[in-house]
Amino acid sequence: MDALTSIREQSLEALESAASEAEIEQLRVRILGRKGELTAILRGMGQMSAEERPAFGQKVNALREEIESALQEKSAALESAQKGARIKAETLDISVPGTAQPLGAAHPLMSTMGKMVKTFVRMGFSVEEGPEIELDRFNFELLNMPKNHPARDAQDTLYFSENILLRTHTSPVQARTMLKQKPPIRIICPGRVYRADELDLTHSPAFIQCEGLVIDEGITMADLKGTLAVFASEVFGEGVRLRFRPSFFPFTEPSAEVDVSCPACGGSGENCRVCKGTGWVEVLGAGMVNPRVLEMCGIDSAKYTGFAFGIGVERTAMLKYNVPDMRLFYENDRRFLAQFSKGRL
Ligand code: PHE
Repeated sequence: MDALTSIREQSLEALESAASEAEIEQLRVRILGRKGELTAILRGMGQMSAEERPAFGQKVNALREEIESALQEKSAALESAQKGARIKAETLDISVPGTAQPLGAAHPLMSTMGKMVKTFVRMGFSVEEGPEIELDRFNFELLNMPKNHPARDAQDTLYFSENILLRTHTSPVQARTMLKQKPPIRIICPGRVYRADELDLTHSPAFIQCEGLVIDEGITMADLKGTLAVFASEVFGEGVRLRFRPSFFPFTEPSAEVDVSCPACGGSGENCRVCKGTGWVEVLGAGMVNPRVLEMCGIDSAKYTGFAFGIGVERTAMLKYNVPDMRLFYENDRRFLAQFSKGRL
């Protein structure tokens, strides 16, 4: 094989495998450059006879042109391949479905609370809030539970000092409101409360209440019953029945514990684990505000009467949604919460 043929084959082969513009350029320099292989051959023509030179010169030039155009072709092919790859990489497929972002949804306790608040606001109640770290005076004393009163035992809590504690109910908000506002008063007090209870199926050391207070001239137990009947049918559905059982709270007289007909079995009690076969479940405490409480809070008990109630929000949500274990509300397990999210979780 003569020198020209071998240069031709070598360079075309090298070009074939060149993968970048830089490699092509290197090849150009190596073959066609001033010190390139083909240039060296041209210089060697000096030793040839005058007859041989023209024909050989033509051959070299033809080869130079061939290689040059091969280099150009390769570089054009490379460029268009790169462009193609870039276009492909940057293509936006607008038919690909989007990645769904979970929107989040109200926690079942919050939506239960929201339903309760809405129901009472529609009946003319306004919403009052107070501190969770409370004074003994508002949490107990003004509610007719003086120091060492045995009723305090049922509401043991965490004390910061002798007179500062985590509130055990939202009733202190009622006392605060009575002190600063004259009747008529019609408020609900939703909020978190604390007790020294172990966490179990039906208890939590921190839970949520929605208490209510109405004070005006001529308020009677009938007003309490009517108000709670609206609450029960709005939250548990129409047809739910109420039962008042005599009870005791130091801040109400008379006092009652109020049951609703079991939402799980409709009140029949048959094989029902929720009401344990009784057909009833307790949802709240209530009563007529003790005149002593009115007096301590600066309200004339000869002129005014009132009622109060305290609803457990967890208990209500458990019954409303048939949730068997209160702890499920606090665990933030998405599989549990998604059931209440209408597809938003
Ligand atoms: N404060 C009471 C409790 O938390 C509930 C209640 C409120 C009872 C108002 C009667 C009237 O146990």
